Amino acid sequence: MRKIAVLTSGGDAPGMNACIRAIVLTAEHFGIQVIGYKHGFNGLIDQEYLPLKSRNVANIIQRGGTILRSARCLTFKTDDAAKVAAKNLNALGIEALLIIGGDGSFRGASHLSKYWQGQVIGLPGTIDNDIFGTDATIGYFTAIETALDSIDKVRDTADAFERIFLVEVMGRHAGFIGLNAALASASDQVLVPELCTDFETEVDNIVNHLKAAMNKRGNCSYIIVTAENLWPGGVTYLAQVLHEKTKLECRPVILGHVQRGGSPVSQDRILATKLGAYAVEQAIEGKTNIMVGEQNNTLLAQPIEVSWQQRKPLDPYLVKIQQDFFDITKHAEHGIESIN
Ligand code: F6P
Repeated sequence: MRKIAVLTSGGDAPGMNACIRAIVLTAEHFGIQVIGYKHGFNGLIDQEYLPLKSRNVANIIQRGGTILRSARCLTFKTDDAAKVAAKNLNALGIEALLIIGGDGSFRGASHLSKYWQGQVIGLPGTIDNDIFGTDATIGYFTAIETALDSIDKVRDTADAFERIFLVEVMGRHAGFIGLNAALASASDQVLVPELCTDFETEVDNIVNHLKAAMNKRGNCSYIIVTAENLWPGGVTYLAQVLHEKTKLECRPVILGHVQRGGSPVSQDRILATKLGAYAVEQAIEGKTNIMVGEQNNTLLAQPIEVSWQQRKPLDPYLVKIQQDFFDITKHAEHGIESIN
C-alpha cells in the first residue's frame, strides 16, 4: 500500500485532530503517503486536498475542531457526485479512504464504494455517541465534560435562588450525553428520547415529582437535563409550561454548540489515537467497507452498515441508578436519629 486519504465529515468532535495525527504517524511508520481532503466529502468532489506529513500534525492533539475542516455534503447522496469522487480518488492513486464522522458520513462512504474500487474505512467521530458497534465515539467524553461543567455552574445559581433550571444538551436523537451529564451532575430529572413518552405525560410527571421533591427537601433548586429535539420549542417551551402549572421560576438554558468545542479530554485523545492507528493497520490488511471501534477495551472492525442498522441502547444500569435508586421522592423515611 502506497497512498491513503483521510477526511472529517459531519459535526466536528473533539479528538478528530488526535485521530488525524494517529493516522498520519502510523501511515508514515509503514511508509504510506497520506492525503487530507478538506471540507468533508466536498473536498473529494472539488479536489481540495493537501499532503499530510508528521510536521503537519505536530501540536494538534490538544486542539478541538478539525484541521481538515468539516461539512455536511448533501449532494454526495447522488450517483454523479460519487462517480466524480471516485474519478478524483483514482487520479491521485488513493488506495484507501478513511472517513472520520458519524453515521451519515458512513452512509456516504458506503455510497462511494458502489462506484470506487478502493477501500473505505469509517472511524466513529461524533459527540452524540449514537453509533452502534463501538462503546464510545471520538468526542463523546469531552462533550459530557463540557455539559457537566456548565450544569455545575447552573447549579450554583439555581441553589442561590432555589430555582428550577432546564438544561438542554445535544445528542441529535440519542440520550447518551443527557443521561451521563445528568447522573454526573446529580440532576433531579433527565428527559431523553429513549426514556420519554409524550409531552403532556412528561409535564405531569415533572410537576408531581417537583412537588414530592419539595415536600421532602423544602424549597430547593431543581435541575432537569433534557435532550435536544424532543418537541417543538424545546426547553424554552417546557420552562414556560412548567411555570404556568407551578407558578415557580423556571429558567431554560440551551448549551448548544459549546459542547462540540474545546480541547479533547484524555479519553477522547486515547480513543482517537487507537482508532486512527488501527484503521491504518486494517487498510494495510486490505479491509474495506468496515467501521473500526472499541468494545470492552478491544479494538474491532465491523461491516460499516452495522453502525446505522442497529440502535445503540443506553446503559440500563445508569438509567436504573438515575431514575430509581437516586429518586429521593421514592425513598422511604427510616426515622434515623441524628447522631449529633
Ligand atoms: O452530530 C453532532 C451534532 O452536534 C448534534 O448533537 C446536533 O444535533 C447537530 O450536530 C447540530 O448540527 P449543526 O452543527 O449542523 O447545526
